[in-house]
Amino acid sequence: MKDTQQKHLWWQEGVIYQIYPRSYQDSDGDGVGDLQGIIHRLDHIQSLGIKAIWISPIFSSPMADFGYDISDYCGIHPLFGTMDDFDELLQAVHDRGMKLILDLVPNHTSDEHPWFKESRSSKDNPKRDWYIWKDANEDGSEPNNWLSVFGGSAWEWDEHTGQYYYHAFLKEQPDLNWRNPEVQEAMMDVMRFWLDKGVDGFRVDVMWHMIKDDQLRDNPVNPNYKAHQATYEKLIPAYSTDQPEVHDIVHKMRKVLDGYDERMMIGEIYLPIHKLMTYYGTDKNGAHLPFNFLLLSIDWDATEISSNINQYEGALPDGGWPNWVLGNHDQPRITSRVGKAQARVAAMLLLTLRGTPTIYYGDEIGMRDVPIPPDEVQDPQGLNMPGLNLSRDPQRTPMQWDNSENAGFSKSKPWLRLPEDYRRVNVKAQLEDEFSIYALYKRLIKLRQDEPALHVGDYRPVVASGPLLAYLRYTPDERFLILLNLSHKPCHFAPEHFNFEGTIVIDTLPEREGGTVSKHVSLSGDEGMIIRLKQS
Ligand code: GLC
Ligand code: MG
Repeated sequence: MKDTQQKHLWWQEGVIYQIYPRSYQDSDGDGVGDLQGIIHRLDHIQSLGIKAIWISPIFSSPMADFGYDISDYCGIHPLFGTMDDFDELLQAVHDRGMKLILDLVPNHTSDEHPWFKESRSSKDNPKRDWYIWKDANEDGSEPNNWLSVFGGSAWEWDEHTGQYYYHAFLKEQPDLNWRNPEVQEAMMDVMRFWLDKGVDGFRVDVMWHMIKDDQLRDNPVNPNYKAHQATYEKLIPAYSTDQPEVHDIVHKMRKVLDGYDERMMIGEIYLPIHKLMTYYGTDKNGAHLPFNFLLLSIDWDATEISSNINQYEGALPDGGWPNWVLGNHDQPRITSRVGKAQARVAAMLLLTLRGTPTIYYGDEIGMRDVPIPPDEVQDPQGLNMPGLNLSRDPQRTPMQWDNSENAGFSKSKPWLRLPEDYRRVNVKAQLEDEFSIYALYKRLIKLRQDEPALHVGDYRPVVASGPLLAYLRYTPDERFLILLNLSHKPCHFAPEHFNFEGTIVIDTLPEREGGTVSKHVSLSGDEGMIIRLKQS
């Protein structure tokens, strides 16, 4: 066994798969996905080669933000099933040698959470300080200028006790006061509850929001704000997010995890590279994987992508493990962003970069954003800011399993509509098609898992010019050259100072596989290939 294989843990070597539980598989015919549905589909996930499943929130919730507004952190929402269903799922996942990651939403609760109900009941309630309450200014206006991510002021007036409370998201999602030690302890207890059950890790929601400036100073105006942007972008959230003290909290959470065997924490953090890196913590005592969303935000351009990979790789702290993401429930789907042909190249990029890849459910069959007519919009972000095209419903539609009624997702009308073409674009059809994007995903994952050079090896850029992105992944024993044409037009790879000879092992044009190449290679538009280099 190579030593590179021994030093790495499951969350470094394996691939993570995100499930949006409302949309994966409905088992009880209410049109909404549930836990038994996920159990029913574990074969699909396992045969794809996935190591760990992250499920978006399944907890008790009034569903103002579809589960990101939690009213009981240790309860399962009846829509999704029961605690028995959860235990069964966890067992089934473990029986298959896979891991289960839950969503932890520590920044805010639902306004229906008993903690908030107590907190708002009176100014001297013991839980008053569990949330962020503030007097109005003398003229009755909000305590400061902070804005809600979902539009409007971040302050909500509470008539009963005559103060404002702060909510970074919906008014139904009041922010907890993480400066209060009791809040911290309560959330650590929530973590222990799930860890004791055997859950393998958490994806921590809006980690960079968790603590706010202690003086609640006004946020500065954003000089680059454009009218088509959400109103939240009018200010720079300098005092409402990414405060230095957040790292103490993350460190405390990490300590809880470290009390168990091989558990892990992913942080949802939208920040520039150098700030993102601070979430690894000093001496790696922070998040195991601060989510790297670079590929979601930059242009689909070889030079741009290469430069960002290099910046990211270069900024990683000692021993900090990288990770890459192409999509999630908050972002337009990759196939809609770059098109069907480039989505294959994107898959090859995601699965050959150094670091843990996270795949968003449905991307493995090239699902696209589904147009949702205005009168069917459900996402509060879309409803609160109509006209800005910010609804996240299009990327949250039901998984397309087969060509039957409702795509095999449910016996009833699904909570969000399916696309017109689901009878063609679905798992079943792609299982029968060896050239499908699904087949490509599966083979890429398999190769990645079989080859230490790909799952734990080093990364070295080769060229990024015009449409072409080329890099190496290698261990002392094995080297792979990855060539990606990020355009629709043919291009040519003819490096001046890099002599190579090798065999194509995976190609988006499978006809080329097995062929040998040397010195230079011509690529078709939208072609990507992985070349196993001959050792010199
Ligand atoms: C995170 C979630 C998003 C949610 C928000 C508020 O960004 O990914 O879906 O709306 O937090 O909890
Ligand atoms: Mg259901």
